[in-house]
Amino acid sequence: MRDGQADLIRLADYQAPVFHVPRTSLDVALYDDYSRVTTTLELERRADADPAADYVFDGVELALCRLEVDGQPWPKAQYDYDGERLVIRGLPERCTLLTEVTIKPHLNTALEGLYMSRGMFCTQCEAEGFRRITFYPDRPDVLSRFVTTIRADKARFPLLLSNGNPVARGEEADGRHWVTWEDPHPKPSYLFALVAGDLACLEDQYQTGSGRTVSLQIYAEPRDLDKLDHAMRSLKAAMAWDERVYGLEYDLDIYMIVAVSHFNMGAMENKGLNIFNTACVLAHPATTTDAGFQRVESVVGHEYFHNWSGNRVTCRDWFQLSLKEGLTVFRDQCFSADMNSAAVKRVEDVDVLRAVQFPEDQGPMAHPVRPAAYQKIDNFYTVTIYEKGAELVRMQHELLGAERFRAGTDLYFRRFDGQAVTTDDFLDCMAEASGLDLQQFRRWYDQAGTPHLAVQGHIEQGDYVLTFRQWTPPTPGQPDKQPLMMPVRLALFGADGQRLPLPDGSTETVLVLTQEEQSFRFPLHGQKEAPVPSLLRGFSAPVELDYAFTTEQLHFLLAHDDDGYSRWDAAQRLYHAAVTRLLSVPGEAVRAAAEDEAAALAPALRQVLARADDDAAAAALLLTLPSEQALADRLPELDVDGVHRAREALRAAIGEQLSSLWWQAEQNNTLAGPYRPVAADIGRRSLRHCALAYLAAAGDARLAGHLTVLFQQADNMTDQLGALRLLVHYGLPGADEALDAFARQWHDEALVMDQWFTVQATVPGETTLSRVQALLAHEGFDWRVPNRVRAVLGALANANPTAFHAASGEGYRLYADALGRLDAVNPQVAARMANACARLPRLPEGRRALLGGALRGLLKVPRSANLTEVLERILASSS
Ligand code: TRP
Ligand code: ZN
Repeated sequence: MRDGQADLIRLADYQAPVFHVPRTSLDVALYDDYSRVTTTLELERRADADPAADYVFDGVELALCRLEVDGQPWPKAQYDYDGERLVIRGLPERCTLLTEVTIKPHLNTALEGLYMSRGMFCTQCEAEGFRRITFYPDRPDVLSRFVTTIRADKARFPLLLSNGNPVARGEEADGRHWVTWEDPHPKPSYLFALVAGDLACLEDQYQTGSGRTVSLQIYAEPRDLDKLDHAMRSLKAAMAWDERVYGLEYDLDIYMIVAVSHFNMGAMENKGLNIFNTACVLAHPATTTDAGFQRVESVVGHEYFHNWSGNRVTCRDWFQLSLKEGLTVFRDQCFSADMNSAAVKRVEDVDVLRAVQFPEDQGPMAHPVRPAAYQKIDNFYTVTIYEKGAELVRMQHELLGAERFRAGTDLYFRRFDGQAVTTDDFLDCMAEASGLDLQQFRRWYDQAGTPHLAVQGHIEQGDYVLTFRQWTPPTPGQPDKQPLMMPVRLALFGADGQRLPLPDGSTETVLVLTQEEQSFRFPLHGQKEAPVPSLLRGFSAPVELDYAFTTEQLHFLLAHDDDGYSRWDAAQRLYHAAVTRLLSVPGEAVRAAAEDEAAALAPALRQVLARADDDAAAAALLLTLPSEQALADRLPELDVDGVHRAREALRAAIGEQLSSLWWQAEQNNTLAGPYRPVAADIGRRSLRHCALAYLAAAGDARLAGHLTVLFQQADNMTDQLGALRLLVHYGLPGADEALDAFARQWHDEALVMDQWFTVQATVPGETTLSRVQALLAHEGFDWRVPNRVRAVLGALANANPTAFHAASGEGYRLYADALGRLDAVNPQVAARMANACARLPRLPEGRRALLGGALRGLLKVPRSANLTEVLERILASSS
C-alpha cells in the first residue's frame, strides 16, 4: 500500500499553494446507497506562482462523473486522476471549475469524510477527510468562502446542517428537501462540516459583550435530550471566559454542537458546527461519572476556544498543528482551572503529561512539538503535539507574566486574523509584545525528548548555592541536543516551614535557565542550615527533575509546601521510593516489608487526611499511589508483575493500618442531597472512593456488603461505577450479580455499557485475557464503534499491564489480532491503539521477543499506511 520513505512529507519541502479558491459552492445530494457531490470552485492563480505549474486537487476514492471549466466539458486529455490526485493541465489563470462525484457514505467505516452514524449523515474532515468528499486543494493554507446546499429525504432527514447561517430552503419531488448554508468566514477545508438527521435540540441564547445575541443549539438523538444541560452550561461559561480572559467574542449568529456515537476522537471544532463524540457532550448524573462531567466541560471549552485559536487564525501546514492544539489545550486547561480548583487541575494535567507524554517522548514514537516529517498526519495527533505543546505555551505565559502574555495573544489574533500561520509567527508575537528575546526558546518546538534537570544545593560562604544542569537524551533521528530556555519557579523553606526571603525581595521567584549548567546564590543571612528547596513549582517546565531529596525533605515538603503540585510531587516521590524498595524484597517477605513502608508513610498520610476537609480533591490526589504503569515506567526494565505485587502489598498495608481513618473518610464524604457536578462535591466523592479502594486492598471484611449497598442505592454513576469496579477487581462476593444487574439496567445506554466493558477488561491478571476474548465476542461489541473498541482493547493495553504483558505472550497475540481486524475497519483508530505497543524496547528480553514477533506477524499482510507507520517505527526501535 505504500513504500516507506517515498511517502514522507517534509516541513522543509513546504511550498505555497499555486492557486486561491475565493469561493467554494457545494451541492450534496444524499441517497441511501450513495451521495452525489457537485462542487463549483472559483480558481485564481496566485501572483507569485509558477505560471507553468499544473493545478492539482486532492481526491481519494472519488468516482468522477463530470468535469467542466467555465461551463464547458474539459477535454479528457487535459487531466489525470490516479485515485488520490487530480491533475488538470492548461487551466486559465482565472476560471470556474465544476466537478461532480459520487461517494459511498454507508460503506465508510473509517469515519473520515462523509459517513453514517446510527442513521444520520455526518462528516469528519480534519486532517484530510475533505478529499474523500470532493476534489479540492485539501490543505489548511487554502482559505475559501463556502456555500453548501444539502439535499435529502425530508421524513428521515428533517434536519440539514452545515457551517455558517441557513440562507435558503425548499422542497423537491419525491418527499425530498434542501437547505443552503453560507459561511461568511473564509476557512480551510478541514473545518467544513455537514450533518443530516432526525435529531432533538436543546436551545439557548448567549449575549456577547458587545450585545449581539447568539443562538446556541446542541443536537442529539431524542433519547439523549435530557443529557445536554451540562454541555450548554459549559458552552456559555466558555464563551464568557474567552471574552473576559482573552477579549475574544464569538463571530456568527449560531453556534451548533452535534453529538454522534461513531467518532474517532473527542470532538471537532468545525466552524459554527462542532461535531462531538457522544462521550464528550452527553452528561447526566445517572449515567455519567464526575470525570465524564469534567471531560464535557473541558472538551466543550476546547472546541469553542478553537473558534479563535484554530479557525480565525489557522495553521499554514500540518507541521504547525500544535499552533492551534497546544494553544487551545493551554486555554482549556486554564478555563477548567478557573471553573474548578486550579491546584487540583494542574496536578491532574501534570499527571497525564508525565504518565503518557513523557513515555512517548522517551520511546520510538518521540517527535518534536513541530515535527520535521511525517507519513500520515493522523498519527501526529499525539500527547506531544497537544499536551507538551500546551506546556510550551504555559512556559511562555510563565516567562512573560499574565499581562505581557495577553499583549502577545492580542497581537497574534489581530495580526493574523483570517490567515494560516506558523508556530514561529506565534512566538514572534510573544517576543514583540514583551520585548523578550525568545530565540533560544524556539528549540523547544524542534527538539524531541524529555529534558532532565539535575539540581544540587550546598552552602558556600553563608550562601545557599543551587546548581542546575540540563541535558536531553537522544531521540530517534536526533542524537544531539541543545540546552533549552526554561523557567524554574522556586521557593526556599526554612526549618520553621516558612518561605525564606529571596534576593529580589519576594519569597517565590522564577529562575530562567539558558545554559547547560548554571548556579544561583541565595544569601542565608546568618542562618546555618540549608533550606529545603521547592523546585519547579506548578511544574513550571516539562522536565524530569533529578534532585536527591531525602525522605525527611519529602515529608517536610508534603507537610509545609504551599504549592499544590510540589506537595503532590513529594508524595509521588515517597511512593515511588517505597515501591522500588519493595521490588527487591523476595516474594514471601513482601508483606512484612510493605507493613514497614506503610508505617513509615502513615504519619504523613494521617496528616493529609486530617486536613482533607479543606480540599478533598487535593487530598485524594495526595493519597493515591502512582499507577502500575507509571511505577514501571521509572524502572530500568518494565517489571509489571513485580510492580503489581509491590504496589498491592503497599496498598493493603496502608489500607489496614489506617483502616479506621478510611472508614471515617468514607462516612465524612458521603454526600446528602441531590448529585451536583461541582468541584467541592466531586472532590469529596473522589476522596470517598479513594478510601474505599484502600479498604478493598486491605481485604476489609465489611467492605463487600457495604459496596453492594452503595452499588444498589447509588443515585449517580460515580458511586455506582466506583462500587462495581471494586467489587469486580477484587473479586468480592456479589461482583457477578452486580455486573449482571448493571448490564440489565444500562443495556440501552452505550456510554454506560462502555464502562461495563472496561471494568471487566481491567481486572488485573492473565486470566482476564479469556474474559477479553469473551467481551470481543459479546453481542454488544462492535468493531465499527471506536468508543467500544477503546473500552475493551484500549483499556486492556493502557490500564491492565499484568494482563497485557502476560508472560505467555497471550496478551500480545490477542492484541495484534485485534489490531489487524480493526485496521480493516478503521485505520486511524487502529494506528492510535498500536501506540500502546511503544514500550517494546523497555520490555524484558522474553517479552520483547514475543511482542516484536506478534507485531512483525501483523506486517506480513499489507496494512493501512496509518498502522504501518506506527508499527514500523516501534519495530525499528528494537531491531
Ligand atoms: N481538532 C480536533 C480537536 O483537537 C481533533 C480531531 C477531531 C481529529 N477529530 C479528528 C484529528 C480526526 C484527526 C482526525 O479538537
Ligand atoms: Zn483541538
